Amino acid sequence: MSIIDESGAGTGAAAVPPPGCPAHAGGTGMTALYGPLAQSDPHGVYEKLRAEHGTVAPVELEGGVPAWLVLGYRENTEAARNPARFTRDSRIWRDFNEGRVPQDSPLVPVLGWRPDVVSVDGEEHQRLRAAVNDTLAKFDRHGIRRHVQRYAGQLIDGFVEAGRADLVAQFSEHLPMLVFARLIGLTEEQGPKLIEASAGIVKGGEKAMEYNNFIIETLQTLTRERRRTPAHDLATWMVQHPSGLSDEEAANHLRMVLVAGNETTTNLISSTLRMVLTDPRFRASLTGGLMTLPDAVEQMLWDEPPLMVCPARFATHDMQFGGQDIKQGDLLVLGFAAGNTDPEIRPDLSAPMHGNRSHLAFSRGPHECPGQDIGRAITDTGVDVLLSRLPDLQLAVPEEQLSWTAATWSRHLDALPVQFTPQRRSEPDQEAAATRLVSQQPVSNVAPAQGRVPAESATPAAPAPALSAAADAMAAIAQADAAAEAEARSRRGFWSSLAGIFRRK
Ligand code: HEM
Repeated sequence: MSIIDESGAGTGAAAVPPPGCPAHAGGTGMTALYGPLAQSDPHGVYEKLRAEHGTVAPVELEGGVPAWLVLGYRENTEAARNPARFTRDSRIWRDFNEGRVPQDSPLVPVLGWRPDVVSVDGEEHQRLRAAVNDTLAKFDRHGIRRHVQRYAGQLIDGFVEAGRADLVAQFSEHLPMLVFARLIGLTEEQGPKLIEASAGIVKGGEKAMEYNNFIIETLQTLTRERRRTPAHDLATWMVQHPSGLSDEEAANHLRMVLVAGNETTTNLISSTLRMVLTDPRFRASLTGGLMTLPDAVEQMLWDEPPLMVCPARFATHDMQFGGQDIKQGDLLVLGFAAGNTDPEIRPDLSAPMHGNRSHLAFSRGPHECPGQDIGRAITDTGVDVLLSRLPDLQLAVPEEQLSWTAATWSRHLDALPVQFTPQRRSEPDQEAAATRLVSQQPVSNVAPAQGRVPAESATPAAPAPALSAAADAMAAIAQADAAAEAEARSRRGFWSSLAGIFRRK
C-alpha cells in the first residue's frame, strides 16, 4: 500500500515490529492509533511518533487503515485552514475508493462521506454552515445557561442525599445530552439511547454503523414531523432555514450537533472536574485568585482537548508536507492533542495558559467548531452549579486509581468517584424558580431525565418569548444565582470560596 511504501522508503518509518508489539496492533509496521498502548498512553504514542518522524507521521487506524497523523501545531493549523490542499471531502479517499476499507469498517461512520457541513468545502460548505451558524445562534440569544443550570440541578438532586457519586456516570455523561435533546426537540425517553449511540460512534467498534443508523432514523422522523408541525427548537429552525435544507440534510446536521457536541462536551466536563479535584496547581491558582473557571476550562482545552485526534482531511494533490511525501487522496488525521503540546509553541508544558485561546481544541479555518461557545457554556455553568451545591466535594479514591478508555479520536474518563456532606434535594421554591425560567420558554416535548416531573411538561406550546420575557428570565436567573451563591457562602469549605472566585469573571 502506497503510504507504507513511501514512508518506509523516504522517511525512516519504524521497522517491522516484533510479534505481539502492542504499539503495532495491526501488524502493518506502522504505529497504531488504537489498541492497548494507544488506549493507555496516547500522549506517549504521539511523543514517540514526533521523535521518530517529526511533525507528520505515518500511522495505522482500526482495521489496518493507513493515515498520516499531523503532530505539529503549525502543520495542524495549515491543514485545517487550507481546504484547497486538504479537503474534508472523503469522496477522494484513495484507500476507500480502491476497496481497501470495508463498507462496514468502524471508520466509515466517522470518515465516510455524508451530505453534511463536515463533508464538504467551498460554496456548498458555506450554504450548510450558514444554516448551522444561524440556528445555533438563536440558542445563544435565548440563553443556554438557564437550561444547563436547571438540568445540572436536577442531576445533582439525583445523588445529593447519598453523599457519594460518580460524577462521570451521574453528571457529565448526562448533562450535555439533556441540554441538546431539549434544544433539538427530542423527547426525554429518547435521551439514554441517543447517549449510548453517539458515544458508540465515537468509540468505534463493530456496532458503530448500527448506532449511526439509529441516530439518523430518529432524527429523520423528527425533521419530517417538524415540517408538518413546527415548534421552538433546532429541528424546526433547520427545516425552515432559507438555505433550503432537505429532510436528509436537516437530519444529518442535527446528528452533527448530537455526535460532535455530546461526547466532546462530556469529556470537557469530566476533565475539568478531574482537574479541579486533583491538580494542586489549580487549587493554588484558585486560592490565589488568579484562575477563573473559564480559565480552567481553557487550560483543559490545551492539555486534554476532547477531540484528541480530529477526523479528517484528504490530500487534494501530491505534495510534500511536514517532510513527508503525501499522495493525492491520502487520509490525514489532525492531532490536536499533539499539536497543543508541540514543543515549538509550548517548551514548558507546566506553564499556565490562562486567557490564551489559541489552542487547537476547536480546530481552525472554515470548519472551526460552531458550537464552541455552547460547549464552554455547558461546561463552566455545569461545573459551577456542582461546586456551588457541593462545597466540600472531594475525590473518593486515590488519583492513581482513575482510568480512561481511549479510542483513536478521544479519551473518556471511566469514573470520577467523589464524596461530600449529604444534603437535601433542592427546596421547592428553588425548583419553582427554575421551572418558572423554563416555563417562559415555548414548550418542547422534552423533560429532564431524573427526579420529579417538571411543571413545564404540562404546559401548552407558547409563542416565541418577547424580549421583555427574556429579560425577565435573565433577572430570575440572576436572582436564583444570588440565592445559590449566598447558600454556598454560608457553608464552610474550600469549594464555597472557589465558587465565588469563578463567578467573578
Ligand atoms: C467542548 C466541546 C466541543 C469540542 C472540543 C468541539 C470540537 C470540534 C472540532 C475539533 C471540530 C472539527 C473541525 C474540523 O474538522 O476542523 C468540530 C466541528 C463541529 N462541531 Fe464542535 N466541539 C464541541 C462542541 C460542539 C457543540 C456543543 C456543538 C453544537 C451545539 C458542536 C457542533 C459542531 C459542528 C456542527 C461541527 C462541524 C463544523 C463544520 O464542519 O463546518 N460542537 N467541533
